[in-house]
Amino acid sequence: LTIGIVFGGKSSEHEVSLQSTKNVVEAMDRTKYNIVLIGVDKSGRWHLCDESDFLNHADDPARIQLNKTNQRIAVVPGEESAQIIELQNHKPVGEIDCIFPVIHGTLGEDGSLQGLLRTLNLPFVGVDLLGSAVSMDKDIAKRLLRDAGLSVANGFVFKKHQHSLIKYETIVKELSTPLFVKPVNQGSSVGVNKVNSEAEFYQAIDEAFQYDDKLLIEETVNGREIECAILGNEDPKASLPGEILPQTDFYSYESKYINESGAKLQAPARLSEEETKRVQQVALNVFNVLDCEGMARVDFFMKENGDLIINEVNTIPGFTKISMYPKLWEITGLTYPELIDRLIVLAFE
Ligand code: DAL
Ligand code: MG
Repeated sequence: LTIGIVFGGKSSEHEVSLQSTKNVVEAMDRTKYNIVLIGVDKSGRWHLCDESDFLNHADDPARIQLNKTNQRIAVVPGEESAQIIELQNHKPVGEIDCIFPVIHGTLGEDGSLQGLLRTLNLPFVGVDLLGSAVSMDKDIAKRLLRDAGLSVANGFVFKKHQHSLIKYETIVKELSTPLFVKPVNQGSSVGVNKVNSEAEFYQAIDEAFQYDDKLLIEETVNGREIECAILGNEDPKASLPGEILPQTDFYSYESKYINESGAKLQAPARLSEEETKRVQQVALNVFNVLDCEGMARVDFFMKENGDLIINEVNTIPGFTKISMYPKLWEITGLTYPELIDRLIVLAFE
């Protein structure tokens, strides 16, 4: 099988994607798969990438030049599989049987890419258009989860044109401090701030609006950060849960990817058998409510009384070396290469 890995992307998680892709490529069994690396640069152009060049430079994103040396390509529907066409000479340079999208965030994880792949008639790994779109939008996802009787953090949503309606005092009266201010459609905590004062609050509002036209202001949920990985289509399975132990104020972008001592991961999480089962059941419920298939990672807060608050769902979870999704499957008994095999099989179901 020839698997096209689409990675990079225009989103602010471009660098995270390079790290995820490196791990996915290294875990794929070459006796089964040919790999075609399709790099999307920060302006959204598609390039055919050289694997060894990519692997050599993936740790140093600044050195990856997707825009000059690589062939610019388009993917078009073919008879049986999709064709890769070199843009400059309009000539076919290969075929693809299935796409593994490894773009986090905007245009990769929000249903856009999935819609494009559907129009190309190309099987792809992971959640389809609808589930991707509703899971990426934290506002819509929360509404659907609430509707299903699941618990989410209390909060308010504002669009950019409603900026003048955002009043610190009114919000603090309802939600108290500290508050979280988040762009609605973002990942890896980019543009997210935890604030304690009016000045910090308005600064955080401006920052969040730089990333999205819609933002979320949420109460702080005090609880343990628990994550659970889901895999499957009609009969999905839940992994053993893991726990994030942030060593900073919250599990920020920096504590995830820049400062390695910023957070510790514990897998499996120290939970009782009953708690583990409950996390798994709720995670599966969330996966179904949000119309997911293939894969997703469901992130929770577990309060002291054991209540589970759903924080968010990631339909293209990180595959970096600190990422929970593959780690949780590993401790549940599925090696990295086995996980990739399973995801590819599911793409064809
Ligand atoms: N958005 C990042 C990649 C994650 O959820 O792992
Ligand atoms: Mg996320």
